Amino acid sequence: MAEIHPVLKNRTSGLSFSKEPLAPEKLETMLEAFRWGPSSANKQPWRIIVVRTPEAHKKFDEGLSDNNKKWATEAPVKMIIMGNPEEQPPRFDQDRWLLDVGLALENMLIQGCDLGLTVHAMAGWDEEKILKNFNVPAPFRVAALFAVGEPGKFEDLSEEMQKKASRPNVRKPLEEIVFWDDFGKAGKP
Ligand SMILES: Cc1cc2nc3c(=O)[nH]c(=O)nc-3n(C[C@H](O)[C@H](O)[C@H](O)COP(=O)(O)O)c2cc1C
Repeated sequence: MAEIHPVLKNRTSGLSFSKEPLAPEKLETMLEAFRWGPSSANKQPWRIIVVRTPEAHKKFDEGLSDNNKKWATEAPVKMIIMGNPEEQPPRFDQDRWLLDVGLALENMLIQGCDLGLTVHAMAGWDEEKILKNFNVPAPFRVAALFAVGEPGKFEDLSEEMQKKASRPNVRKPLEEIVFWDDFGKAGKP
């Protein structure tokens, strides 16, 4: 089997950020990667709020889950990744906007990783707080929060976060997730 693309193999959700500011050009490149995400019927139901001022950082941090407060508050740039369910309505009783937004988010993760940055998506947050703190109008919903910055030192993380960062990064084997010709049927490429 040929190796997968190095950026896919090397991408990780880092926890440490340096005090160095994120260069505007890198931020712009990441946002551009997000913009080029694929979406059903090219509806592009996504929006992003980029958090920069100290006041906005405070409002963002308030919305983080307790676990994410342990590391994400240190990120120099934070983002709120949103979607509009009316721009990509449900089909067969399924939220379809979330899939589009998730694909654009992965574009940004990959691009950020290729730029050598610490990038980390988050699902641990209080949606009500985020919507209120950032004056997000209905029907927009929060899909994810995002933290990005130049990588920091492992030694500067708290002991608890060092442990989290040292967890083995593993995936289910292909045999467990890929079936051939019928659900559950084993096979080979
Ligand atoms: C949509 C999404 C939400 C996530 N939410 C959180 C989160 O709230 N807190 C956290 O520390 N990591 C979060 N992660 C990171 C995952 O834990 C991580 O992607 C997974 O453990 C695989 O590790 P890797 O990204 O380093 O390969 C999230 C990742 C994704 C894609």
